[in-house]
Amino acid sequence: MPRMARIGLLTGGGDCPGLNPVIRAVVRKGIDVYGHEIYGFRKGWKGVLENDAIELTRENTSGILHKGGTILGTSRTNVYKVDDGEARVLASLKERGIDVLIPIGGDDTLGVARKLFAAGFPTVGVPKTIDNDLNATDFTFGFQTAVQIATEAIDRLHSTAESHDRVIVCEVMGRDAGWIACWSGLAGGADVVLVPERPFDVEDVCAHLRNRHENLGRTFSIVVVAEGATRADGGAAATADDAVDSFGHARLGGIAFELEQEIEERTGYESRATVLGHIQRGGSPVAFDRVLGTRFGVAAIDAASNGDYGKMTALHGTAIELVPLEEALKEPKLLDPELYATAEVFFG
Ligand code: F6P
Repeated sequence: MPRMARIGLLTGGGDCPGLNPVIRAVVRKGIDVYGHEIYGFRKGWKGVLENDAIELTRENTSGILHKGGTILGTSRTNVYKVDDGEARVLASLKERGIDVLIPIGGDDTLGVARKLFAAGFPTVGVPKTIDNDLNATDFTFGFQTAVQIATEAIDRLHSTAESHDRVIVCEVMGRDAGWIACWSGLAGGADVVLVPERPFDVEDVCAHLRNRHENLGRTFSIVVVAEGATRADGGAAATADDAVDSFGHARLGGIAFELEQEIEERTGYESRATVLGHIQRGGSPVAFDRVLGTRFGVAAIDAASNGDYGKMTALHGTAIELVPLEEALKEPKLLDPELYATAEVFFG
C-alpha cells in the first residue's frame, strides 16, 4: 500500500458509547501522521452499498470525543442478505478509491469484514459492543459505560425498593452473555443476578429472597437479570415481538416482567420490574471507554497503514494488540464462571 492512502471507515450494528473516540483517533493519526484521506460511510454497511460517504477531516471530527452515539450513524445491514451485496460493496469501494476499510462493530459487522477480506479486500476491524461478548479481546469499549449506567440505576432502585418493602427486578442488556448483569450486579450489590450462561429456576430465586426477608430481616431485594437469561426447564429468552433483524436476531426483552409476576405470586412480596433498555447505550462514554476507543482507533490506522489486514484490534491485559478476525468471531465470549461465583457469594 502507498504511504498515502484512502481509508474507509464505518460504524455498524447497535451504537455504543466510544464510537466517536475511535473515529476521531483514526482521522487524527491517519491525516496528521500518515497523510491519508479518510472517508466515513454513513449508516454502516448501508452506506457502503449505496456509496454514501463523507470525507472526514480534523474539523468535522473535532469536539466529538465525549459525545455518545456515532457521527456516522449506524444500521444493522447484512450485506450478504442483499442481492449481489458483496459485488455492490466491492464496486462501491472501488469507485470511491478506498484502499483499506476499517469497520467498527460487533460480531455481525465484523463478520461481513471477514468475508470481504476473504474475498480479497483489505479490512481492519475494531471491536465494539456494550455486551462485551466479542472473543479475543478482554474488553470492548462501551461496556464500562453501560455498567456504570446500570450500577447507578441499581443504586437508585435500592432506595425506592427499601421505602416500599419491594422486590425490584432490573433487566439489563446482554443477549448471549451476562457481563453487564454480573458487573453491575456486583457493583450495585444485587441480591440475585441471572445471566444467559446459567439458566435459572425461579424457585431458587425465590429461595434466596425468602432467606433474606425471613431469616436476615431484610424487607426489600434487588434482582438483576440479563435480557437473554433463560429458564433451566428449557425455552428461549423472552422477546419483545416476533420480528428478527437481517442477521436473524430476535428483539429480546420482557423477562423482568415475567419475574415480577412470578416472584410476587410465589413469595407474596410486592414486586416491580424496571427495564433499562437503550439508556445503557446512550450518552457520554466514561473515561475508560474514551481511552480504549482512542487506543483502538490509533492501532487500527497503524494496522491499515502497515498492511496488517484481516485483523482486529484487541485489549490484552493493558496492551493493545492485533488478532485475526477469525479468532474474534469463532464464538461469543461468555461470562467468566469465577466472576459469577463471586457474585453468588452475595445472593440472598
Ligand atoms: O448487541 C448489543 C445490544 O445492545 C444487545 O444487548 C441488545 O439485545 C441489542 O443490542 C438491542 O438492539 P437494538 O438496538 O437493535 O434494539
